Amino acid sequence: MCGIIGYVGEKEAVPILIKGLETLEYRGYDSAGVCVSVSEELNVIKKKGKIAELKQLPELSQINGNVGIAHTRWATHGEPNEINAHPHTDSKKEIAIVHNGIIENYYTLKKLLEDEGYNIVSETDSEIIAHLISKFYSGNLEEATMKALHFVEGAFGLVIMHSRERKIVAARKGSPLVIGIGNGEMFVASDITALMEHTKRVIYLNDDEIATLTPNNYSIKTLDGKEIDKNIDEIKWTVDQMEKGGFKHFMLKEIFEQPESIRNILRGRVKDNSVNLTLDFDFKEIEKIVLVACGTSWHSALIGKHFIEKLVRIPVEVDYASEFRYRDPLLDEKSLVVAISQSGETADTLAAIKEAKKKKAKTIGIVNVVGSSITREVSSGIYLHAGPEIGVASTKAFTSQVVALLLLSLYLRKEKNLSIDKEILDGLESLPEMIEKVLDSSEEIKKIAEKLKDKKNFLYLGRGLNFPTALEGALKLKEISYIHAEGYPAAEMKHGPIALIDDDMPVVFVCPKDDTYKKIMSNMEEVKARKGNIVAVINEKDDKISELAEHVIEVPKTSELLSPIVNSIPLQLFAYYIADFKGCDIDKPRNLAKSVTVE
Ligand code: AGP
Ligand code: GLU
Repeated sequence: MCGIIGYVGEKEAVPILIKGLETLEYRGYDSAGVCVSVSEELNVIKKKGKIAELKQLPELSQINGNVGIAHTRWATHGEPNEINAHPHTDSKKEIAIVHNGIIENYYTLKKLLEDEGYNIVSETDSEIIAHLISKFYSGNLEEATMKALHFVEGAFGLVIMHSRERKIVAARKGSPLVIGIGNGEMFVASDITALMEHTKRVIYLNDDEIATLTPNNYSIKTLDGKEIDKNIDEIKWTVDQMEKGGFKHFMLKEIFEQPESIRNILRGRVKDNSVNLTLDFDFKEIEKIVLVACGTSWHSALIGKHFIEKLVRIPVEVDYASEFRYRDPLLDEKSLVVAISQSGETADTLAAIKEAKKKKAKTIGIVNVVGSSITREVSSGIYLHAGPEIGVASTKAFTSQVVALLLLSLYLRKEKNLSIDKEILDGLESLPEMIEKVLDSSEEIKKIAEKLKDKKNFLYLGRGLNFPTALEGALKLKEISYIHAEGYPAAEMKHGPIALIDDDMPVVFVCPKDDTYKKIMSNMEEVKARKGNIVAVINEKDDKISELAEHVIEVPKTSELLSPIVNSIPLQLFAYYIADFKGCDIDKPRNLAKSVTVE
């Protein structure tokens, strides 16, 4: 979601801030702005649209200062325009703020401030914070911020500067912020990608903490002013992982990275016919498992339910994190709640975990981003080690999540003293190779995409383990190509969606050679009988398929449990190529954000 970067040091702030914003671009935004202090005066420059447009403003090159803050906004309150873009200042133009999140009581605060004569110029919830801090300011920005935040309800990642103080102040509640420690310079950002070029030494702020940064020093306190000593963490990701490496888009690079990301999640975890994970709960006490997630991660949870129920025979519920937290879920100390999240920052998933903890459930996380908020909330977890995922549409994180859930199921099986099927372990080991084979057929998939790129609607159908694969295939297509696509269990089609089928409706069938094969063939017949245009993802060609399907994509046969992983790859490529033929902004699709840090 929105991006924040702040700098205090000896160097020119503007290039550092702009570069930082560019690395955060992938998170999704609609406007951008910077504020730099020069000779005790705040210079704010902002623009609706892309950072490239902001960069072209001539006034930007004229600001020479070495303290500054910058922001990419993803509008929640007020349309995307120049006035609503951040940074926002108080009326005296002494205090500037950038904010990620939502101030829930902004309307009440706005009325109070207006009654006291403050002039609020934007429609945002964020601007009121600048005025509120100004109201309490008497020479110390940190103190004034603490006083102001006492009145603020909602979520914030907030970075603030004052024209006469050579420092930046950062405060967090619900929206991520990380401090970067340099030599004679300090940084703050909403995610580590913006810091990697400058330093590997970081401190993750927790909720209700405030940091004050000067070029050579930092202090971290609670919002009530108690000093805290925090660990410095080391970033393990490298700068080249953040580059496209010759691929046209990050999404394509990430699709092609999947053999490697799968090797990374397996490394050290599958050994001697067993699965080793470090999880901090006693499985004997667990009576039910709840998987909570959003979007693509929710699709991996649906597959995880199949794995756990089949291999461990314990009831599993799958919930959208946003629904879970508001329906007073039935949980107790015998429940295990698993949060699945690429970013580890999704506000709904984070809130779901907090809710689970309140109800005394055990919690674990399946997360990609090391040190992210969810990882700090759960008692233990499984890191995906997939490397940075920059494309907004999740690909490699999805397949790694599915593997993580299979590893979790096998681990729980071991805890139950049940044997682990060698075929599954062998299958896991050969998975990277299988994925490589699918990637080798990318040119054929591209040809099919070219033929179907102008269709307006798609239906994706699958059964059992591959129903979530169909959902994920449809989500990928709609996210990046803006074509309407729906996923359905293949057999459900006849209960409604079949009404949509005509000769202009492509239907993508995920159709592996497993127990459901014959049933799916019947569903294909039903589509064919209504002149639907069939694309079939299959394991091996047979006469029947060739007769029914217009387009066939062959993928290698794996053990049944691994088929959703292998079958997802052609659907990722298919969505990618269609979007590319249509000239869409694949890595930054409209309206979407990489990590959704508002509820
Ligand atoms: C994936 O392609 C999406 N853009 C989105 O649905 C995403 O999976 C969802 O927002 C959850 O994100 P998370 O895994 O970082 O929690
Ligand atoms: N709620 C704020 C706004 O609409 C901040 C949004 C964001 O996180 O970018 O301006």
